[in-house]
Amino acid sequence: MILEKEERYQSCFDRVVALVEGETDLIARMASVVGVLHGEMPGFFWTGFYRVVDGGLIIGPYQGSVGCLRIQMGKGVCGTAAERGETQVVPDVHAFPGHIACDARSVSEIVVPVYQDGTLIGVLDIDSEQSANFDEVDRAQLERLLAAVF
Ligand code: SME
Repeated sequence: MILEKEERYQSCFDRVVALVEGETDLIARMASVVGVLHGEMPGFFWTGFYRVVDGGLIIGPYQGSVGCLRIQMGKGVCGTAAERGETQVVPDVHAFPGHIACDARSVSEIVVPVYQDGTLIGVLDIDSEQSANFDEVDRAQLERLLAAVF
């Protein structure tokens, strides 16, 4: 099962790296990451970026139902990941103090900070309708993918 998930991430990694080769535009790179992950990874209900703008988070490319447009630094799972600079793996969002429910169907979530040249430029947020859909494999593989793309 773990191997299967790692194989899927490897396939996503290869596809994204090939897609963005030579592309310098940040939104184009973010959109490619979202498009590949959302299409290939089972259980990804909402997949998208929030970008750091003027000290807050503003939505970027995403797939899934309509997302909240702005999130304050330190608020919700996304704001917490951004403020701490640490990936947040949340098996049950209802147990996360201050979780922001953009869609009530989301049950578990992972948020990974995105750095470019050592500066935080955003977070990648992935929600699932399944409880505890994300684990250390997702954390490691998503951090690896983002480090390669940004
Ligand atoms: N649940 C997130 C908000 C973003 S939506 O899930 C798309 C949070 O608590 O930060």
